[in-house]
Amino acid sequence: MFPPTPTFKGAMRLARLADLPRIGVVAAAAFYHSSWFAYERPYYNQYPLDTLASYRRSFLRALFDPDSIVVVVEDTLDETESNRVYNALASVYPPFDEQIPKDLLDQGKAVVAVASFSLLPDSARHGQFQPEGDNPGVPETPVLNRDKNAIASENMDKVLHPQEVETFKGRMVIDMMVTHPSHWRRGHGTLITKWFIDLARQDQVGLAVAAAPMGKVHFSSLGFKKAKTVEIPGYHDHPNPIYAWLGLLNVKQNGGCGGERVSRAFL
Ligand SMILES: CC(C)(COP(=O)(O)OP(=O)(O)OC[C@H]1O[C@@H](n2cnc3c(N)ncnc32)[C@H](O)[C@@H]1OP(=O)(O)O)[C@@H](O)C(=O)NCCC(=O)NCCS
Repeated sequence: MFPPTPTFKGAMRLARLADLPRIGVVAAAAFYHSSWFAYERPYYNQYPLDTLASYRRSFLRALFDPDSIVVVVEDTLDETESNRVYNALASVYPPFDEQIPKDLLDQGKAVVAVASFSLLPDSARHGQFQPEGDNPGVPETPVLNRDKNAIASENMDKVLHPQEVETFKGRMVIDMMVTHPSHWRRGHGTLITKWFIDLARQDQVGLAVAAAPMGKVHFSSLGFKKAKTVEIPGYHDHPNPIYAWLGLLNVKQNGGCGGERVSRAFL
């Protein structure tokens, strides 16, 4: 028997396997605007299909991780939305009937926002958010990662990861959060974040996020406070450094929880 959860408001729900093609599109379209995107994926212009495959796989793994929660928000589909994405993605933009499940498309709707969260490893909620009726045994499509630079990934692992481990100890983590640019500033990111804050308050477990600048503004406005900023050094194909804002939200006065959980918020 799992603990009760805060009610999903509006058009928010748990993600399903059938949402994955759409989730890949939403993630690529949105993360392009994060300063981390060009750093980690300097060859995104040549390999937009690799970028889509990589985000699909990240969310597939989160979807079937018993210690993760993946949520989505549906809204009215904007049929001109591909005009709001970067050119390389627009050039391979999947037809709507190949990225949106038929039942949603028939209602003129689509998933427009998605987020994944990590529970504490010893959480009583372990396995609570697994998608019902979906098949976790689906084969993963190969992810070639030709859009990525291995030095960038190594830098993130070497420089950012240890800081996350140290700073995020004992907290639930916002791993990824994105809204399709066609649906920015309609409150979807806030709706999702507030649900997670409600869950954190209910469980009396603090929250943590590692964010690029847009996320920093968003999470600060919802009460997250800066723990530190981490500089990740530039490299040959991206000479400028990037910055990760590590933000924390405390939900109880005395703080201090056990366990340890880390992850990366925005890719
Ligand atoms: C950050 C993000 C998830 C917010 O999603 P959203 O559905 O637009 O969220 P909301 O409508 O609730 O807006 C929340 C806040 O996000 C910020 N924001 C959203 N769209 C923005 C835009 N186009 N320009 C600047 N800030 C923006 C604002 O601070 C906004 O609050 P405000 O409208 O009160 O000023 C979304 O903008 C996104 O996917 N961005 C691209 C990927 C990215 O950079 N993610 C964060 C990196 S750490």
